[in-house]
Amino acid sequence: MTDPANILPASDDSLSDAAARLRSGGLVAFPTETVYGLGADARDDHIVARIFEAKNRPSFNPLIVHVPDLESAAAFGEMGPRAEQLAQAFWPGPLTFVVPRRADCGLSLLVSAGLDTVALRAPAHLLARDLLKRFGGPIAAPSANAAGEVSPTLAAHVAQSLGAKVDIILDGGACAVGLESTVIDLCGDRPALLRHGAVTLEQLETVLGRIDDATRPAEGQAPRSPGQLARHYAPSIPVRMNATEAAADEALLGFGPDTPDCTQSLSPSGDLTEAAANLFAALRALDTPGHRAIAVKPIPETGLGRAINDRLRRAAEAHNR
Ligand code: TXA
Ligand code: MG
Repeated sequence: MTDPANILPASDDSLSDAAARLRSGGLVAFPTETVYGLGADARDDHIVARIFEAKNRPSFNPLIVHVPDLESAAAFGEMGPRAEQLAQAFWPGPLTFVVPRRADCGLSLLVSAGLDTVALRAPAHLLARDLLKRFGGPIAAPSANAAGEVSPTLAAHVAQSLGAKVDIILDGGACAVGLESTVIDLCGDRPALLRHGAVTLEQLETVLGRIDDATRPAEGQAPRSPGQLARHYAPSIPVRMNATEAAADEALLGFGPDTPDCTQSLSPSGDLTEAAANLFAALRALDTPGHRAIAVKPIPETGLGRAINDRLRRAAEAHNR
């Protein structure tokens, strides 16, 4: 069987093509030491929306932002002494830090799924490092597989799962670790492990001392999936879905052509990728003391519309409890 046309063996040429694709708003799958990532410019809401679209994810989980080193990580997140100590010990490598976003980070809001935190990782794989250097910016990358499938550890897996939805698949052979990075949350008083990975809890504890294991369900509670471990962003005022019109004290968030009366529109043309790219910024913009609630016009439950509705539903439910 011949390789699909979008799989490029690693070379000087294919690496500069891949960096150019990232710069022009494309999707590039690349190898890391853990699994293959589906990469895009982490500063661009529209292209980050295309990651969710390509993966066909029914919800917006925050994504990992890949950086070359601690210094560049510090431009996006508030690293602090604990992250610095861990980075000294384990970066570059299969360890991801969740830290507060810097106000001036310039990252897409969608990359953090609207949260005030960001997940940062400096991968060790030489091709990933080379790509980061040539691109010269932060790369958002979840595992390069469709929702519900296992993470890819070969370029061929990426092609099987995502096919032509990816512009370039950089082939770097098999991933050495073969399982996703360890995720540790450093935002609270005590560090908390969010996902097990190649760097073990014991290794982390030798550097930081006691770490909470948030991957295990608390007594009497159902286990949570990794995506659910992230907190969810919700506006401080209620959200009302499938609204046809808004009350005088409500903001109206529109979608599609016939919404001239709306306060703001997710996409005047009814484009779901554009709507996803605008979602978190729009909710934040309308979440002001002047509005009692945010009424949202109906969003079709297809493609990215499912992830948009999932997030709106969570925001609506947060106020109904
Ligand atoms: O090994 C890996 O980590 C791979 C390679 C490509 O780097 N990437 C990966 O990304 O597994 P993804 O998107 O499949 O997983 C990201 C994990 C999810 O469990 C997500 O919930 C968590 O990191 N995460 C990301 N941002 C977060 C945040 N702000 N707060 C809490 N959890 C976060
Ligand atoms: Mg994944």
